[in-house]
Amino acid sequence: MARLIINGGASLNGEVNVQGAKNVALPIFAAALLTEEPVIVYNWPAISDVYNMLSILEHIGATVSFEKDRLLIDTRRAQRWEMPDSLAKEIRSSIFMMGPIMARFRMARFTYPGGCEIGNRPIDLHLRGLKNLGVNVTEAGGHIMCEGRRLKGGDVHLDYPSVGATENLMMAAAMAPGKSVIRNAAREPEIVELQSVINRMGGNVNGAGTSTIFIEGKNSLGGFTYTCMPDRIVAGTFMVAAVVTKGSITLKNIVPEHLFAISAKLREAGAKIEIYGDALTITGQERLREMHLIETGPYPGFPTDMQAQMCSAAAISRGTSIIVENVFDNRFKHVAELQRMGANIVIKNNVAVIKGVEKLHGTEVKAMDLRGGAALVLAGLCAEGKTVIDQAKIIDRGYETFDAELSLLGANITREEIEGG
Ligand code: EPZ
Repeated sequence: MARLIINGGASLNGEVNVQGAKNVALPIFAAALLTEEPVIVYNWPAISDVYNMLSILEHIGATVSFEKDRLLIDTRRAQRWEMPDSLAKEIRSSIFMMGPIMARFRMARFTYPGGCEIGNRPIDLHLRGLKNLGVNVTEAGGHIMCEGRRLKGGDVHLDYPSVGATENLMMAAAMAPGKSVIRNAAREPEIVELQSVINRMGGNVNGAGTSTIFIEGKNSLGGFTYTCMPDRIVAGTFMVAAVVTKGSITLKNIVPEHLFAISAKLREAGAKIEIYGDALTITGQERLREMHLIETGPYPGFPTDMQAQMCSAAAISRGTSIIVENVFDNRFKHVAELQRMGANIVIKNNVAVIKGVEKLHGTEVKAMDLRGGAALVLAGLCAEGKTVIDQAKIIDRGYETFDAELSLLGANITREEIEGG
C-alpha cells in the first residue's frame, strides 16, 4: 500500500495542466468494442481505473498498445463475452461494457458489480433498459445473462438519470436495428462526448446533453480517434486546493462550462476566479466564508464527485455550511477522518452540517474512497502539523501523480510505498 505524508501550511501557487477525464475515457474504451476497426485515444489519463479497464478489454481479446502519447485499441480478435467475476467486482465501471459486449456478440454474462466504498451501486436501470431493447436478461446465482438475438430499437425511461445506464444503453441502441429513445437520460458532458464518438463511428445519436436522446441503430460502426476532454473533477479538486491554502493556481486545459457549479460555490465562499478561454486562475485570499447550502445532483447540478472536497473547504471556513448528498447513499466516509483532524461536522442521514473551525490539526487518517481520499489530502494541506494518509493508493484510481503535482505547487508532501498491507 502507499501512504502520503503532508506537513500542512504552505500556500499553493503555480500552474496545473489538467489531465484527461477518467469518466469519459472509461465509456469510450467500452465503445471501442462496437467496432472492429482501430481506435486511437489521445490525452487518456494514466490512472489505475484506466489501466484496469484496458486489462478488461485485453481479457475480452482486444489488443491495446501504447505509442508515445496515444493509445491504440484493436478489438478485431475480441471474442469473449463473459466478464470475469474478479475483474467485474474490482472495477465498477466494467458495467459500461455490458451494452457494447451485448451489441457486438449478442451475448453478455456479467456478475453483479456489487456495492463499493460510496454505497450500494445497483444496476437495475441498466438491466431494465436492455430489456426495453429486446434483450433477454436472466439472473441466477449472482450472475446476469444477456441474450440479444432479438435486440431492437425501443423506448427507455430511466427512473433516475443514471450516467452509466445512459452510456450503456446509448451503446447498445447504437447497434440495435430501428430507432430508440432514452428519456430522463443523464446530461453530463461525458454523455455528449460519447454521442460525438458514436456519430464519428457512423452512428446516429442526437440529444445528448438534454434529457431525451434519440438513437438510430446501425449494422456496423467504424473506428474513431478521440482526445479525452479535461477532467472537471480533477480541475475542481485543484481549485479547492488553491482556496484552502490561500494560494493562487492557474488551471490550463479546462472547459469552463463544466466547472460553473463548482466556481459558483467557491466564489460564494470568497474565492477570486478569473476565466480566460480554456484556462482559469483561482485565488484564495482570506479564510473562506461559509457555503450556505450545497446539494449534489445530476449535471448541471453540483457534482457528487466534488462533495468530499467541499467538506474539507467548509471544515475550515467561517460560519456553518450545509452539504446534502443526494446521489449516493454512503458517501460521507471521509467525515469521520476529518473529525479526527478536528473538523466540527454533524451528519444526519444525507446531510452534513459543518461548523468551520480556525484550524485542523494533522493526524493519521485513512482514504476510504477515491474522492474522500482527495478530500483528506486537501485537509492535510491546510492542517497544522503532519497528516499521514493511509490507503493512499485508492487516490491513484482517479488522479495522475497527485502528490507530485501538489509538490510542484509548493506543498510539503511525500509518498511512501509500504510493502504488503
Ligand atoms: C458515474 O457513476 C461516475 N463514474 C461516478 O464517478 C459519478 O459519481 C456518478 O456517475 C454520478 O455522477 C463513472 O463515470 C465511471 P449513476 P455511475 O449510475 O454511472 C443509482 C468518481 O468518483 N443507480 O449515475 O455508477 C446509483 O446507486 C465516480 O469518478 C441505480 O439506482 O453513477 C446512484 O445512487 C464515483 N440503479 C445514482 O443512481 C442503476 O441501475 C447515480 O448513479 C444505476 C444507478
